[in-house]
Amino acid sequence: MDFKVADLSLADYGRTEITLAEHEMPGLMAMRERYGDAKPLAGARIAGSLHMTIQTAVLIETLVALGAEVRWASCNIFSTQDHAAAAVAVGPTGTVDAPAGVPVFAWKGETLEEYWWCTQQILQWPEGTFANMILDDGGDATLFVHLGVEMEKTGVAPDPATATSNEQRIIFEALNASFAESKERWTPIAGEIKGVTEETTTGVLRLYDMMKEGSLLFPAINVNDSVTKSKFDNKYGCRHSLIDGINRATDVLIGGKVAVVCGYGDVGKGCAESLRGQGARVIVTEIDPICALQAAMDGYQVSTLDDVVSSADIIITATGNKDVVSVEQMKRMKHNAILGNIGHFDNEIDMAGLEADGVATRKNVKPQVDVWTFPDDKAIIVLSEGRLMNLGNATGHPSFVMSNSFTNQVLAQIEIFTKPEEYPVGVYVLPKHLDEEVARLHLDALGVKLTTLSDDQAAYLGIPVEGPFKSDQYRY
Ligand code: NAI
Repeated sequence: MDFKVADLSLADYGRTEITLAEHEMPGLMAMRERYGDAKPLAGARIAGSLHMTIQTAVLIETLVALGAEVRWASCNIFSTQDHAAAAVAVGPTGTVDAPAGVPVFAWKGETLEEYWWCTQQILQWPEGTFANMILDDGGDATLFVHLGVEMEKTGVAPDPATATSNEQRIIFEALNASFAESKERWTPIAGEIKGVTEETTTGVLRLYDMMKEGSLLFPAINVNDSVTKSKFDNKYGCRHSLIDGINRATDVLIGGKVAVVCGYGDVGKGCAESLRGQGARVIVTEIDPICALQAAMDGYQVSTLDDVVSSADIIITATGNKDVVSVEQMKRMKHNAILGNIGHFDNEIDMAGLEADGVATRKNVKPQVDVWTFPDDKAIIVLSEGRLMNLGNATGHPSFVMSNSFTNQVLAQIEIFTKPEEYPVGVYVLPKHLDEEVARLHLDALGVKLTTLSDDQAAYLGIPVEGPFKSDQYRY
């Protein structure tokens, strides 16, 4: 078995944590119970690009229990938990000397070159076969296949000299290397892929863009916009893991401090609530009048970053947008203020500008924590080099909330793989009854008792007794 992880000897520790996580992931365990015999994913070769954590290990082993073959990479250079990666590679029945799990290509602290190498490893199967499904988070695996097909169609590899960012240059170099080896690699891979299921807001944005411009090559299910994903993982998950990241990185007392949250979408709402829960005085920035009004009515001051940047102790970006914090604004921050991003990509904070010659000097405090000092001796603390700090500085969301997200992922993989005729090229969300089912699977564990509609009440509301209970337009 081919794989690349940091340290296989961590597998026992990983296995113990996976076993604990399974207890906290009732949705995934119900999937194993329900579909373990029927094996609806038999024949699926899933390329997974999603943070290689303990929770993801439970997802991977659920996909395998449902019959799939799987190869996995992380979707971020800092988010891998090395003990999780080791345990998945060794597998429940393998040993460190004879690994028998899933080929994983992930370790904490990859370089960008290694990251894109890992992404390629999951798409190509040994013996000349390819993935036929993608499970993506942020869309990097999907992007690579699309760029590869475009390159082969035009017959020209992209020129790294034309790249507009360091990361784009590395992708272009990887494509060049691939093109030198084979002029027809990605077109057959794309041809085999039945579909992709996408985990996050930012990846979904890319999919809708591709659909609009007519370049999307295979069907996609937008897992993010299942209610039981974005209204839970993005909000309650970040409510948990944002302050976990700040605490592990800095151990600064949050109570009494001024914290700014940029963006009041699902992620921002969870972040603001957790900071307020610690006693911080929270200020929100928004571009959308609806979200700004929501923040105000939830009791937060709403302002612009320019107005409050010099009085903030903690600034967190949660927008999924780019260029939200500029170097000029960083220079105006308080001495030793903390700056972090919880959005998917590292372009929310102008890290390239901060890293440019002569702007500031970097002192690494510990992994994923840097003090950047400006020429006037004022310093700021930057978390995870501007990459998602809840996974870089902590361990991401806890199992119970990820069970909701990943149960949606499993259902979405089954949908596309087993019913390709129902999903022509396009972007879809899971039907409401499956969304409600995911929630239902998590009620018992919390001791929730659900009220049952009477026939009369159901007729009055015009809905079936067993649901769906809401229209697709309902916003929760
Ligand atoms: P969303 O679209 O619900 O919220 C983003 C908000 O930011 C919107 O309300 C938008 O109006 C606002 N915004 C955009 N540009 C802005 C600017 N320049 N200044 C202030 N506000 C601005 O998206 P969601 O679901 O909250 O996700 C945000 C990001 O977090 C995405 O990149 C997503 O992929 C990522 N994400 C990260 C997770 C993690 O564990 N770190 C978990 C889930 C999502």
